[in-house]
Amino acid sequence: MNHKESIQAADGKLGILIPGLGAVSTTFIAGTLAARKGIGQPIGSVTQMGKIRLGKRTENRNPAINEFVPLASLNDLVFGGWDITPDNAYEAALNAGVLEKELLKDLKSELESIQPMKAVFDHKYVKNLDGEHIKHEKTKMDSAKALMADIAKFKKENGCNRLVMVWCASTEIYVEQQEIHKNLPEFEKALENNHAAIAPSMIYAYAAIKSGVPFVNGAPNLTCDMPAIVDLANELKVPIAGKDFKTGQTLMKTILGPGLKSRLIGIDGWFSTNILGNRDGKVLDDADSFKTKEVSKLSVLESILEADLYPQLYKDMYHKVRINYYPPKGDNKESWDNIDIFGWLGYKMQIKVNFLCKDSILAAPVVLDLALFIDLAHRAQMKGIQEWLSFYFKSPQTMQGMQPIHDIFLQKIKLENTLRYMMGETLIHHLGLDYYEENQ
Ligand SMILES: NC(=O)c1ccc[n+]([C@@H]2O[C@H](COP(=O)([O-])OP(=O)(O)OC[C@H]3O[C@@H](n4cnc5c(N)ncnc54)[C@H](O)[C@@H]3O)[C@@H](O)[C@H]2O)c1
Repeated sequence: MNHKESIQAADGKLGILIPGLGAVSTTFIAGTLAARKGIGQPIGSVTQMGKIRLGKRTENRNPAINEFVPLASLNDLVFGGWDITPDNAYEAALNAGVLEKELLKDLKSELESIQPMKAVFDHKYVKNLDGEHIKHEKTKMDSAKALMADIAKFKKENGCNRLVMVWCASTEIYVEQQEIHKNLPEFEKALENNHAAIAPSMIYAYAAIKSGVPFVNGAPNLTCDMPAIVDLANELKVPIAGKDFKTGQTLMKTILGPGLKSRLIGIDGWFSTNILGNRDGKVLDDADSFKTKEVSKLSVLESILEADLYPQLYKDMYHKVRINYYPPKGDNKESWDNIDIFGWLGYKMQIKVNFLCKDSILAAPVVLDLALFIDLAHRAQMKGIQEWLSFYFKSPQTMQGMQPIHDIFLQKIKLENTLRYMMGETLIHHLGLDYYEENQ
C-alpha cells in the first residue's frame, strides 16, 4: 500500500461494470442517479454519508470520508453490465419492483440508455433461470476473451479513465475448490478445456482482472476466492474483494453476535428463517444454489463466537439457516431469528428478531461503497485481496490460511484504520489515553 502522495487522483470517468442487471444492481444504479440529481439521499453509504475521526478526541477533526480520501465523484460514474435478458436498466428496475414507479420515471432516459451486453451464462450453474441474451462461444476461454472485448469497447465508447466490476448476478450452484483452481496455468488450461468446475462468474472475474479491472464478488459463489485468480490479481496488481454482500439477516447477526459474546452470554441455539419472493429467492429455491448461500451464512457465527476459546458458552450451539421462496413477498423479505441464550448460573432466556427488510435497499449502498473503495485501492497501488473491505461481506475473502473477521465492529475499525494509514494519519487504538497525555 502506498501513502497519500502516490495515490493517483480520481480524474475522469469511472465505469462500473455489473454482471447481472437485477434487483440489487438496478436499485444501486437508480439510487446513485437519484442522489446525483438531488432527488434521493444515499442513506447507508459510508462513502457518501460517513465521517471519520482523525487524531485525538480533543482535536475534534471529523471530516467526511469522501473529503478525506480521494474517491470518484458520483458525477463521474458511468454504468454498464451484462444480463441474460435484453431488458434495459429501466425495464429491469420496473420488473424488480423495488423502487417506486414515480422515481424511476424521473430517471427514465438515463436508465434506458443502460443496455446489457450479452451474458456468459450456463443454465447448469443457475438451474432456476434461463435466458436468450447470451454468448455462444466454443470454449470458456473464448467466452473470457469475448468479455475482455466487451470491457475494452465499453471503456472506449464511454470515455472512461478507469473501470471496476461488481458481480451482482445470481447465486451459482455450490462449487468446491478443486485442483484446477489452485494455480493459474491449470485454471487457464481448464478454461480452454471447458472444465465443469469453471462457473460463469469465474470467467467474468478472470476477464476483469486480465483487463486490469478490479473485481468485487457480491454473491457467495467461489468466483475469485481461489489461488489461481488471487495469483493473477497479485501478478497484474489488481485489487479484488468478496464475497456475498452482508445485508439483512446476516447483518443483524454480525451486530447481535459480537454484542452477546462481548458480555459472555452463552448461546444454545440460533434458528434463522426467511421468506422472500424476488428472483434471488427463486434461484435460492434450488438446493444447489441454496447450498452456496447456506455455507456463506453459517460461517458467520462460528467465527464470531470462537467456540474453541469459549467452549462452555458456544460449543454445543445449534445453528440453522432456512430460506423459503414465497412470491407474494417480492423484494420485501421477512426474516425471523429465534435465539436461545443463557446467562448467570446457566439461566435460560430468549431473543426474537423479526426483521421486515428490503434486501436491495440494504445492498445498494454496499455496491456503491465497494465500487468506490476498490477503485481507490487500485489508485493506491493495492493489489490482491482487500481484507479491509470485509465490513461489506458475509464471507470475507482472506489470504490463504487466515481466518476471516466477521465482527462488524472490528471490521469497521479495520476499514477506518486502512483509510487513516493510506492518508498518513495516526491509527486510532481507542486506548483513551489522550486526556491523560494532554494533562501530564
Ligand atoms: N439483495 C441482497 O441483499 C443481497 C445480499 C447478498 C448477496 N446478494 C446476491 O446478489 C446477487 C443479485 O441479487 P438480486 O436480488 O439482484 O438478484 P436478481 O435475480 O434480481 O438479479 C440477478 C440478475 O443476474 C442475472 N444473471 C444471472 N446469471 C448471469 C450471468 N451469468 N451473467 C449475467 N447476468 C446473469 C439474472 O438474469 C438477473 O437479472 C445474488 O447472487 C444475490 O444472492 C444479494
